[in-house]
Amino acid sequence: MSTIVLGISGALNHDPSAALYVDEKLVAAAEEERFIRDKHAKGKMPFNAAKFCLDFAGIKPAAVDVVAVPFAPISIFSKARWHFAKRYWYAPDRALDALLNGNRRYRRYRDRVFSLLRDLGIDPDKVEFEPVEHHLAHASSAYHLSGFKEKTAIMGVDGKGEYATTFFGYGENGKIHKIKEFYDPDSLGGLYGAITEYLGFEMLDGEYKVMGMAPYGDSSKHDFSRLINFDGKNFQVNTQLVNTVGLRRYKEDGVGFYFSPKLIDWLGPKRDGDVADEPYIDYAATIQALFEEVVLKLMDYYLGDILKETGKLAFSGGGALNVKLNQKIIARDEVKELYVQPASGDAGTAVGAASYVLMKRGITPEKMEHVYLGPKFSNEDCINACEQHLEKPSYELIESVPQKIAKILVEGNPVAWFQGRMEFGPRALGGRSIIGCPSAPGVASRINEQIKFRERWRPFCPSMLDRVAPEMFKNDHPAPFMTFTFEVNEAWKARVPEVVHEDGTARAQALKKEFNPRYYELMEEMEKLTGNGVVLNTSLNRRGEAMICSPTDALNMFFGSDLQYLIMEDVLVVKHNNREVNCP
Ligand SMILES: [Fe+2]
Repeated sequence: MSTIVLGISGALNHDPSAALYVDEKLVAAAEEERFIRDKHAKGKMPFNAAKFCLDFAGIKPAAVDVVAVPFAPISIFSKARWHFAKRYWYAPDRALDALLNGNRRYRRYRDRVFSLLRDLGIDPDKVEFEPVEHHLAHASSAYHLSGFKEKTAIMGVDGKGEYATTFFGYGENGKIHKIKEFYDPDSLGGLYGAITEYLGFEMLDGEYKVMGMAPYGDSSKHDFSRLINFDGKNFQVNTQLVNTVGLRRYKEDGVGFYFSPKLIDWLGPKRDGDVADEPYIDYAATIQALFEEVVLKLMDYYLGDILKETGKLAFSGGGALNVKLNQKIIARDEVKELYVQPASGDAGTAVGAASYVLMKRGITPEKMEHVYLGPKFSNEDCINACEQHLEKPSYELIESVPQKIAKILVEGNPVAWFQGRMEFGPRALGGRSIIGCPSAPGVASRINEQIKFRERWRPFCPSMLDRVAPEMFKNDHPAPFMTFTFEVNEAWKARVPEVVHEDGTARAQALKKEFNPRYYELMEEMEKLTGNGVVLNTSLNRRGEAMICSPTDALNMFFGSDLQYLIMEDVLVVKHNNREVNCP
């Protein structure tokens, strides 16, 4: 008899998702935002995502054995609640709540999960319900899915879970051991998020924009050390300035921010609009440098010995999506291999909670080697979507898709690429992507004009054949998920200029053929035509929109943009309205 575990995330009111394990196999996983077309799906529960997972696997609701959630009750005897109460003395309602009613949030979430289960046809009284501490779920999503057999250092950095914000531990023989946790409001994710808000972006969304802006600035012009009291092993965030709540918050039109008016007095007005200028680019550089410095020093202090012993590190939590930090981690001599959970944000905790309870039952989850875990659609589905679409698209079924699309790309056209199963996690990796030829001059700006309208400081990234990565980059390290940046070798900077960032790096996906053969074949064709087995790859969506899920979503997006080509499985849709295009 198989063991069926359904993981459900969404306790923190953003990025709800579902994941389904049948024994050791992760059969399906998806974020709710994709189905309901609402980025981050704030305040929602993952009904559609969970239903998709069950339907895809052909599992009847009654067959689910365990429901795992990445949020657990925290004991009054834990340091977490006392730390929180002490540090939030200036907001007494919160402080007292942590002590007297510290699991209210958990109970509310459990009730919402039970109601979701009933909607799905799962009887909450008949399944085992397993709450897993938030940071243990993050830790499991990295360590248990890394495939590492050796003793492994584990790091978790996010905004906050129940109370914990930062986790250092290790895994050995499948068991996770805590070494040290830090608790709210002492949060590195919270600190970075507060400055993200100050720089005019949304917290939990704009952090990677700050990271992208950083290389344009100079981190030596400003000293941000007053934001955090850090002695190399412990830290306290200065809540007079950042990660503030209640009366300490800066407010604009009735909206409160996670920084204080004192921050404005010090650094000047909050950034507005798309302009990236001094001093804001310097602030971005300074917060990025501070974040890197603190995480690397804490890693040395708490995990240094384990890293010297085996060199293996597993990293998760929103902070693990900071690809610049990850570049510095893998540059360390003692770090032999870093596994970053591709869905390191809270969506990935559905997988992590499920993998954690599997291990408890003696089942070792398989290594997570790809993210193609979402819905897929047939040619017939794509044709039906075209037939029913209001724009009455002109389409045709084509053969030799990689060959034909490569030709269109080489002519300098961006192509909307909709193939196979949708990705799990924030990165498009060749399932729902907009692709371009990285040596075609101006293709990045063409994508910006036709659809993305991205800020100029945000780089486009490359996907490449696995064998090309060691030639293109100065470091040789597995990069299946675009979770690291690498320094690009000089010769390659000239060969693929459209995917090299301001600072000479690229955030890369090095693809193994077995995980996405069609995307691989496309890049082989690109290699034949241009000499470079590389494509420019960005996610298939408009700015501010969740990544595309279905053929209808793809058509809506396509007709809401100036893109000329959309390939869905073998169905090529071409627009003829703007200019003469050659249909291959
Ligand atoms: Fe988290």
